[in-house]
Amino acid sequence: MSLKPIPKPNGIIGLKGLRGIWQRRSVIGALEVFHAEMGDVFRLPLPGFSPVMLVGAEASRFVLVTSRDDMRWRMEREPITILLRHGVLVEDGESHDNIRRIMNPALHKQMLQYYVTAMWRATDQITAAWQPGKPYNMLDEMRKIALLIMADTLFGVDFSPELKRLWKGVVRAVNYISPGIWVLWRGFSHIGYNHEIRKIDAYLYRIIAQRRKNPGNTDDLLGTLINTPAMTDDLIRDQLMTMIIAGHDTSTASLAWALYLLGAHPAVMMRAKAEVRATLGDSPPTYESLEKMPYLKQVLNESLRLYPPIHLGSRVAAKDLCFNGYAIPAGMRVFYSIYLTHRHPVYWHNPNQFDPERFNAANKIMPYTFLPFGGGPRNCIGAAFAQVESKIVLARLLQQFDLHLLNNNVRPYMGATLEPRPGVMMSVKGV
Ligand code: HEM
Repeated sequence: MSLKPIPKPNGIIGLKGLRGIWQRRSVIGALEVFHAEMGDVFRLPLPGFSPVMLVGAEASRFVLVTSRDDMRWRMEREPITILLRHGVLVEDGESHDNIRRIMNPALHKQMLQYYVTAMWRATDQITAAWQPGKPYNMLDEMRKIALLIMADTLFGVDFSPELKRLWKGVVRAVNYISPGIWVLWRGFSHIGYNHEIRKIDAYLYRIIAQRRKNPGNTDDLLGTLINTPAMTDDLIRDQLMTMIIAGHDTSTASLAWALYLLGAHPAVMMRAKAEVRATLGDSPPTYESLEKMPYLKQVLNESLRLYPPIHLGSRVAAKDLCFNGYAIPAGMRVFYSIYLTHRHPVYWHNPNQFDPERFNAANKIMPYTFLPFGGGPRNCIGAAFAQVESKIVLARLLQQFDLHLLNNNVRPYMGATLEPRPGVMMSVKGV
């Protein structure tokens, strides 16, 4: 059987792509155009680097499940590998599976009930500084909350004294791994790895040393890692850095997008607020209360559908592969697009419209058409954690505040995550 060549945009499609970028004020606009023009398999025209983009349920299953062992994640000279070193996110094969097995218990569903109090308390701690009528950028506010939650629940430390000192480093690290000039020329990948990021390293080694001295809680992630003889301080640092990056930036974007969409759709906001207030009254959210707020879950899912924080997954073909009659030679970079699958007109009616009713329990969502947390053996290890976290934080915010969106000029920026830029400005008023 002869294999088909993978389509590449010609000049006209390229020009349409540029118009797409201009119209959406985001590079994502070009991806939308290429998908509409060329279908579910196409190449991206980047100089010296022309990955294949795969879209749809079948393609996602191909990357995540059926060809999982024929694709590599790790790319030695990329900033994310330089930053995370041997973190589970950038490891492959047996090493990946071993680290993941060690980390699993601390992120298991059964542990989540113990994290709920820390989640709403972190929310209260940050919102305590909010002043009525003053504008706040929810992207920054959610980042602060997500960092406090991450450090408290998984590392067993209070991050609030470090928020100011390490803020620049955290933002620097996130920018460092975002697509940049290194995508075209890998020589750039070391540039920008600076003093601020080293400050986070010093902090992580310090909390590892402290926990070795005073073991305390052995069930949280740091305790679990320290109790595993094979985990050296360097390897533990790599997993903690992975958590800081993979675990907080995604939750930050997810919550900021949900607040933006709620602010832009007042009727949905009112319904979500009514559900939260009827369920919680004046009491803080509990693990059990989450089940009683199905609309909140629908809102969060619809927000993840429209703006998945990880909008694509990247792999390299480890051997010659074939997908639907297209040849994918060994060494080719393969992307699976979560964003385009989430807006695929074959799976979603009016795909660009915000409509939480799609996730009403009566509607069946086809497998691999909604995959904000990826899928298969490399799916998001923090998926259950993130879903509880976002519900608790959002419920607590809606319970305690009236939030009004101040800017409509929000666009999806393709950084380390898909971020609402220039931010989600909201005024707040206690209820
Ligand atoms: C809304 C929040 C989140 C979203 C949308 C998200 C999304 C994802 C996606 C799509 C992947 C798979 C990427 C791929 O196929 O290459 C992934 C992997 C991962 N996520 Fe998340 N994530 C979120 C929150 C978290 C949290 C809270 C943690 C940690 C507590 C976390 C830790 C990780 C790790 C370590 C991996 C790599 C897993 C592996 O390779 O085995 N994520 N995430």
